[in-house]
Amino acid sequence: MSLALRLARPEIAALAPYAHAHWDPALERLHANENPWRYVGDQSLAGLNRYPEPQPRAVEARLAALYGVAPERLIAGRGSDEGIDLLSRAFLTPYRDAALVCPPTFGMYALATRLQGAALVEVPLARARGYALDEAALHAALTPAVKLVYVCTPNNPTGNAIEAAAIERLAARLAEQALLVVDEAYAEFSAAPSLAPLIDRLPNLVVLRTLSKAYALAGARVGAVIADTPVVELLRRVIPPYSMPTPTSEAVLAALEPAPLARARARIAELCAERARLAAALATLPLVRHVWPSEANFLLVECSDAAAALARARRAGFLLRDFSAQPLTAGALRITVGTPEQNDRLLEGLATP
Ligand SMILES: Cc1ncc(COP(=O)(O)O)c(C=O)c1O
Repeated sequence: MSLALRLARPEIAALAPYAHAHWDPALERLHANENPWRYVGDQSLAGLNRYPEPQPRAVEARLAALYGVAPERLIAGRGSDEGIDLLSRAFLTPYRDAALVCPPTFGMYALATRLQGAALVEVPLARARGYALDEAALHAALTPAVKLVYVCTPNNPTGNAIEAAAIERLAARLAEQALLVVDEAYAEFSAAPSLAPLIDRLPNLVVLRTLSKAYALAGARVGAVIADTPVVELLRRVIPPYSMPTPTSEAVLAALEPAPLARARARIAELCAERARLAAALATLPLVRHVWPSEANFLLVECSDAAAALARARRAGFLLRDFSAQPLTAGALRITVGTPEQNDRLLEGLATP
């Protein structure tokens, strides 16, 4: 029996996948109770009157090529949020299992765990060491109930990349007990390579990727879970059929054509340069106490008066994310790197009493 089946909720391991209407684009569809006509103005290639492909193989093949993994190791969903939801539903038995998270971090891990009725174990990152993993505390917190461990690198909202060797040690420590889910939502903005190739050696490693950040497709809702094939096969039992809407699949295939892809990569480089400029300029402002180093498309900025900084930003027309009330990010705001022109206006707004 595979590790995936051993770790899965027993009822999911026993579940037969939903038998959706047969998919054969060569034949005319009089089997799925669709409307035979398009709505007036339907610009899609496939026609929105038709259900999409139940699991979009062309999109998955394209994403697998983008991330350099075999297609059978990838399942696409509506953002990495859906990946987190699928993992929770497949692996966390309510009122019995637990997921472990390392705050301050992305909130969906905790939310999906609680929605599933599972327990949450929190092992804070070590702020004094630049929000590094606290390996000793992590290992001490691992109980047999822990089935999923989430590590976000670069981490949201702190921006730092987590040391790859520490992640490897953790995966090895968890080997037969739990999946280690490494969320690489911001990996394109970091020099650190993806950990996905390690799945060859560490079959309990799961990597989350998204097109929402570096590829400017947050509105399309596309992400991927990359994992050992038995884990992917298990998640295919849980994902709803027709999960990916036709306009989304078509947008992905268009956005990942060579020309837009080259443009996206140039934009990533531009954003990283702008991040450095913004960080240096923020650090000179009287309201700013510390700008944490970032390998993502945002900066965590500690302020002497976070409320005043928020108010000044709002007056200049900007929303920032307020983390100032949380103990591990006291006084801090998270600022997404904008266009050079937006960053200039924000800096001016923050500097003006
Ligand atoms: C670390 C992290 N993971 C996942 C997501 C969600 O991404 P998606 O748009 O792919 O659902 C976010 C969004 O902010 C994030 O910060």
